[in-house]
Amino acid sequence: MKNSATNLHVLEESIFAQMTQKAITHKAVNLAQGFPTLGVPLIVKDSFQKALQVDENHQYAPFQGVLSFRQQISLYYKKFYDVTVDAGTEVLVTHGATQAIYLTLMGLIDKGDEVVVFSPHYESYLPALKMLGANIKEYLLTGPDFALEEEKLNTIITSKTKLVIFNNPHNPSGRVFTAKELTFLAQAVRRSGCFLLSDEVYEFLTYGEERHRCMGEFLSLEEGLLICSSMGKTFGVTGHKIGHLISSSILMKKLGLLQQHQTFSVSKLAQMAFTYCLEGLEEYLPSFRQLYGKQRKELMSLLAKNQLDFVIPEGSYFILVDHREFEKKGIKSSSGKELCDILVTKHQLAAIPCHSFYLNSNSSEAQRYIRLCFAKESKTFKEIKILAH
Ligand SMILES: Cc1ncc(COP(=O)(O)O)c(C=O)c1O
Repeated sequence: MKNSATNLHVLEESIFAQMTQKAITHKAVNLAQGFPTLGVPLIVKDSFQKALQVDENHQYAPFQGVLSFRQQISLYYKKFYDVTVDAGTEVLVTHGATQAIYLTLMGLIDKGDEVVVFSPHYESYLPALKMLGANIKEYLLTGPDFALEEEKLNTIITSKTKLVIFNNPHNPSGRVFTAKELTFLAQAVRRSGCFLLSDEVYEFLTYGEERHRCMGEFLSLEEGLLICSSMGKTFGVTGHKIGHLISSSILMKKLGLLQQHQTFSVSKLAQMAFTYCLEGLEEYLPSFRQLYGKQRKELMSLLAKNQLDFVIPEGSYFILVDHREFEKKGIKSSSGKELCDILVTKHQLAAIPCHSFYLNSNSSEAQRYIRLCFAKESKTFKEIKILAH
């Protein structure tokens, strides 16, 4: 057999695949998996049933996505953020937000182009960037506050920057960035003239005082802003992999070409179903937030009861805990990775070590935290043996 492509060699097995395997082997309670197990919302079930009745041919959707779905997406940007998005020319439906990210990187990045990422970050940004030969610059968000600082932004985002990849609400820290921080970011991007991809998949999962602000409130699409999001996160059903990308019409023409030659289009039935879901979005959101808010509170109370300090999540569905906190439970470890190995093998609890969310996975900051997913049922929390209930 001949060799696979050389640029595949930059890829390693994802930390999720590794931890899932370990969780199965050790029959562990799995708080590593980053997806909810809180049931399928009624609105999703009803919408899929309606779509099944209405879709008479089950054939390809247009490559841009079903028009009524794009119209609903455009409507929610107007309603929630007062951001105007043209459903005809500025929205592309994608195979999850992951494909929106991938298309953006494929369409914008040449070998050697400078790309700024904020670490810790969603795991799929770096592999694609490495395969494309990008020159990756890292903005290190340091815990426990994970703040954006104006001076640091201006030092890292320069005229040499081609693209900045930003995520808000932030996985894994749970930060919801403030208007002031987003203004600093927009100013740095404007000064540089670079593109900004704002990954907002957890846009509707916020818990505190701070509402989620769409990056479109600070920067226009014509200034090089792209936004992606995910129906999987908004409706707690990640299996459908329906996402979208928003960008200026000029850029979208080019990225649309990539879509035409990649998957061509994504599930029409699911797009129709999520059209109906988005029609009921405003009514659905309070119960959705309440459900996730309750599980967040439960896991936070459990950690607090065990005297474990953690980073309070303002958004998303993750909680970070410094690995040294577990010394209070008699578990000594030199890193998040070591702690996760001990937890899964000896205490049947699977968590994600955060080192793989950094460019330099050996730094002390990268080794510091482990990530727990709280979008799990209460009975799952009760099965965690290492935590006193
Ligand atoms: C920050 C972030 N972006 C993108 C994604 C991917 O979303 P999707 O499942 O729609 O591809 C995830 C999934 O965990 C995520 O956490």
